[in-house]
Amino acid sequence: MFRIQPSIRKQKSNDGLRFRVQPAISYPQPDCPTENRELVIITGATRGIGKEFACFFASRGYDLLITGRRKEIITGVADEIRREYGVKVEVVLADLSVKEDMTSLLRIVCGHRNIAALVNNAGYGMNLTFREDELEHQTAMITVHVNAPLMLIHKVLPQMIQKRDGIIINVSSMAAYFPAAGSPAST
Ligand SMILES: NC(=O)c1ccc[n+]([C@@H]2O[C@H](COP(=O)([O-])OP(=O)(O)OC[C@H]3O[C@@H](n4cnc5c(N)ncnc54)[C@H](OP(=O)(O)O)[C@@H]3O)[C@@H](O)[C@H]2O)c1
Repeated sequence: MFRIQPSIRKQKSNDGLRFRVQPAISYPQPDCPTENRELVIITGATRGIGKEFACFFASRGYDLLITGRRKEIITGVADEIRREYGVKVEVVLADLSVKEDMTSLLRIVCGHRNIAALVNNAGYGMNLTFREDELEHQTAMITVHVNAPLMLIHKVLPQMIQKRDGIIINVSSMAAYFPAAGSPAST
């Protein structure tokens, strides 16, 4: 079971054994030692909601692994966040519909043992309806929206279960909750 509580942060209690929570607002800047800091993985952080998540977690002292397809923009975002929050930011260039990119992203994720959170955010909509669109575009969209999050969750889950701690956020759309014709793969 994973909780989504963006407005709180964990702090080790004095006896070092249990955790208590404090409002994040009390600690707007990173206060953790740079060694052994926890990591948050965010897909699609070049802009929009993904970038906001990146800034949110960085402002609370988490190191980041962020992905995007456009090198100049994602590296610019990483520089901005390092400057602003003093955390480590690892950039992985990946189109999540491309098997090779996904494989190398999963390999990199596997190398991290300190993952606190995964935000599956990368995604997009299409103007064409399912009927009008090429089938391969639709299957690519399903790969990005369903398969990629599934594979990333499968990689991070064991260590979160072992630690009995972790956050997984799947960014979706309100449209996912309504029966709607047109673009079933986009939500
Ligand atoms: N904003 C809304 O109103 C809304 C509504 C419904 C659902 N959503 C969903 O919420 C999420 C964030 O929305 P947003 O408005 O912040 O989106 P956005 O500004 O368009 O940003 C989307 C992010 O996803 C990345 N991305 C797109 N396709 C990708 C692919 N094939 N492989 C890897 N990365 C890919 C983009 O990377 P590059 O920029 O490098 O290409 C970008 O970083 C998306 O999943 C979106 O579908 C948003």
